[in-house]
Amino acid sequence: MEIKILGGNSNREVLEGICEYLSVEPTKHLVSRFSDGEIRVQIEESVRGHDVFIVQSTNPPAENLLEMLLLTDAARRASAARITAVIPYYGYARQDRKDKPRVPISAKLVANLIEASGVDRVLTVDLHADQIQGFFNIPVDNLYATPVFRNYFNHLFPQGLNSDEWVVVSPDVGGIKRARLVAEKLWNLPLAMVDKRRPRPNVAEVVNVIGEVDGKNVLLVDDIIDTGNTIAHAARALVERGAKRVVVMATHGLFSGRAREVLNDAPVEKILITNTVYRRERALPERVEILDISALLAEAIKRIHVGGSVSSLFL
Ligand code: R5P
Repeated sequence: MEIKILGGNSNREVLEGICEYLSVEPTKHLVSRFSDGEIRVQIEESVRGHDVFIVQSTNPPAENLLEMLLLTDAARRASAARITAVIPYYGYARQDRKDKPRVPISAKLVANLIEASGVDRVLTVDLHADQIQGFFNIPVDNLYATPVFRNYFNHLFPQGLNSDEWVVVSPDVGGIKRARLVAEKLWNLPLAMVDKRRPRPNVAEVVNVIGEVDGKNVLLVDDIIDTGNTIAHAARALVERGAKRVVVMATHGLFSGRAREVLNDAPVEKILITNTVYRRERALPERVEILDISALLAEAIKRIHVGGSVSSLFL
């Protein structure tokens, strides 16, 4: 059984990066449009009896999700032995519970669609909430991007980040678990948190910083940057409380709406993201640096293929 790697148009860069790492050619396939705009997919070489990996992020437009479903259907009908959906960024993850009347649980619906299309297992990175794994009845490997960031810092600071100088900060209460995990993995750095709350309706928001940031370098950690507001507000609060510099570390850079302007105006020295979501240079805020996630995904693919342990990558 050979590895066959293909994917839609959402993230060709990561698809090619994975193939390069594994020294395999992408499986010949076509993902284009019919003249009315419908998606046209064809796998142009045999995948019968092979181990197929379909690489596609499911950020908007919704065509990205549909391309993945159609590729999976094509692979299944072409008698692939096993199909793994490799989803660098799992879109619609933030709507993961019914927190208001008459709203969908989009993350569950997307999981249902992926499973119904014929996927046997899922490999993804930094799911917005761990419990989304339970929305699937098939195995889900949820990698953390932390090793990619850790490598980056290792190059700059071969001794690691000094815990007297650096502190990991969550920009909100919801992200504290993630920030704690990152702090542990990154040289056991101390932890702090920005806590935003409105004491009563129509009363101005109060921003507290819990933990020691005065005179420190801050590593502000989040999974997603979308409009940039969460990061910009948190960075301002931290600098007001005496933080020396703020470096942002977020796995998925969506940068929608006015994110570019919002983040250009924010007191942040650098914004580190990965390429789980493909972004054109033009749309990016200044001071963004993009780290490549391909090698981490490729290593996981290699281990899944040979039945090796993937958990040792959960650094
Ligand atoms: C929220 O739960 C997420 O972890 C991020 O903090 C959020 O999606 C960031 O969104 P924005 O950049 O629009 O503030």
